[in-house]
Amino acid sequence: MNAGSGLCALFFQPVTMSLSDPFLSIEDVTFSYGNGRVILNDVTLRFGRGQVVAIMGGSGMGKTTLLKLIGGLIRPQKGRILFDGTDVATADTQALYRARRKMGMLFQFGALFTDMSVFENVAFPLREQTDFDEEMIRDLVLMKLDAVGLRGAADLMPSAISGGMARRVALARAIALDPALIMYDEPFAGLDPISMGITAQLIRKLTDALQATAIIVTHDVAETFEIADYVYMVNAGRIAAQGTPEELTASTDPYVCQFLKGLPDGPVAFHYPAKSVEEEFGVRS
Ligand SMILES: Nc1ncnc2c1ncn2[C@@H]1O[C@H](COP(=O)(O)OP(=O)(O)O)[C@@H](O)[C@H]1O
Ligand SMILES: [Mg+2]
Repeated sequence: MNAGSGLCALFFQPVTMSLSDPFLSIEDVTFSYGNGRVILNDVTLRFGRGQVVAIMGGSGMGKTTLLKLIGGLIRPQKGRILFDGTDVATADTQALYRARRKMGMLFQFGALFTDMSVFENVAFPLREQTDFDEEMIRDLVLMKLDAVGLRGAADLMPSAISGGMARRVALARAIALDPALIMYDEPFAGLDPISMGITAQLIRKLTDALQATAIIVTHDVAETFEIADYVYMVNAGRIAAQGTPEELTASTDPYVCQFLKGLPDGPVAFHYPAKSVEEEFGVRS
């Protein structure tokens, strides 16, 4: 075999979609912040290598909490979180640190450091977590910026670029260390429709190029269904529905229909629980 075909084999290996041996699995996890309210109630989610998996659900349903659990920032009261052979739910500090080095995160409202150039923002994780020399850092940063189409913007300050571009810089920063798992918390929030589409396509492209696993937490149905392999819907502490975008689109489940169509009423009530109108206003019936 010559070197050329070896390289091809390296880059064009079929991505394994089998979930019998998932790269990350959340097994029977229950979590509460300790105030008596159960945020996640015995949930199980599995993420295969090379997959883009979406976690969808309304605000306050525990989506960001799930990402914090995967990152080992908080620990569940019950269950296991198996990430590439490590149970991050019980791992010691060292094992957790090793696991986290394989994770990239685009935080909710993922802001850039405003006092650093685009280049320095992407270089930040490399400077923090590696001892690469300047030349290596420069090559890697420019490569990541090129992947998101912004090599030419390397020297600009965040204040000089658009919101859509800033999000792409944040993507480049999230993948700076070639993570095996990339978590995107609300990657489309606050973007115009064109930037949303660009960001979604980039997430798919970067996941495939890195042969990584991507988790997108979002409530933007259209963008997500374009690129996701699998979708979990969380509601009231449980997995309310799951499936491929095609399966969910075809679903007649009332919760799925309400969520996908953005209907104000359905299994999820429009009204926050309150006293009855009679009680509140002293109206006699
Ligand atoms: N540090 C915390 N302490 C107590 N409650 C919290 C904390 N962080 C989040 N919560 C609560 O947990 C619930 C889930 O939060 P979160 O995971 O951020 O939801 P989502 O990302 O789906 O909007 C919310 O009701 C939120 O108020
Ligand atoms: Mg959130």
